[in-house]
Amino acid sequence: MDYNDFVEQQIQEIKETVGSGIAVNALSGGVDSAVVTALAHQALGKQLKTFFVDNGLMRKGEPELVKKAFDDLSIPITVIDARDEFLGALRGIKDPEEKRQAITDTFYSKLFRRVVQESGAQFLFQGTILTDIEETVAGIKRQHNILSQLGIDSQKEYGYTVLEPLKTLRKDGVRKVGEMLGLPTRLTRRIPFPGPALAARIIGEVTANDLEIVREATAVVEEELDSSGAFQYMAVLFKDRATGIRNNRREFGRIIAVRCIESVDARTAEPSRLPWETLQRICDRVTNIPQVNRCLYDLTPKPPATVEYI
Ligand code: XMP
Repeated sequence: MDYNDFVEQQIQEIKETVGSGIAVNALSGGVDSAVVTALAHQALGKQLKTFFVDNGLMRKGEPELVKKAFDDLSIPITVIDARDEFLGALRGIKDPEEKRQAITDTFYSKLFRRVVQESGAQFLFQGTILTDIEETVAGIKRQHNILSQLGIDSQKEYGYTVLEPLKTLRKDGVRKVGEMLGLPTRLTRRIPFPGPALAARIIGEVTANDLEIVREATAVVEEELDSSGAFQYMAVLFKDRATGIRNNRREFGRIIAVRCIESVDARTAEPSRLPWETLQRICDRVTNIPQVNRCLYDLTPKPPATVEYI
């Protein structure tokens, strides 16, 4: 596919469809929403209103990275600080699916619903890609329609039109289009990262303290394995504790598991055969994080494990 032609064609179509109207979209930091923002902005300029919700579950430096990438492209973004709201919604919840549901509800039913209603927009951009559609059709993914998730019958209530300019592309195409539109490779070439973000990397209840630990550990693992070429890598925080020694004192501390996998599409995976020195460096740095005194390397393939722990 000629991606230059693709971009030109989409920009033309977006301009014709939106005319002099207003469009909104939400930026998550993921590749798809970043690319749809850059594309729609190129077509619409000020007629596009982009919102970035800081849910407090993001990786270290993430809100700053996203903000800077779009500042550099002169694309205005409204940041919504919803950290307390998400942490509050997750309080006391241990079950993985209930955690996911609490995050979805907070985003769609509370925050974004209000934002969309107040914006006065007639169009809403979604970063749906071909794989999402295929997985929805195959019954693998939940319904991928933002408006129904908002509880809005779009046509009846607001006459909204959903625009999905990336729906004929797969991930590799989305990355290419993103780079053509000037997005940094730090955003377009990222390893997969789950929507529930760091909430998926804490087994059990998400607390501010545990988010801080797993955020630091994730930063170490991503830094050390950035050049590994592996498909995906992560740090996971357990609720169980282990005895250790720190400053000559007994410490009942926290445990971090490091997972690094080779895979093509995450449907099956093998643990990466990382050099011992790399593992040792990760262990040194992870056990320097306050409260953490154990670092484990996960040797489990998928199956029987999944990629994520929750
Ligand atoms: P599993 O754990 O199912 O993961 O073997 C397969 C791939 O999907 C990602 N993943 C998620 N992505 N929301 C997402 O957006 C989720 O809830 C979620 N759970 C898993 C995972 O990182 C891996 O790449």
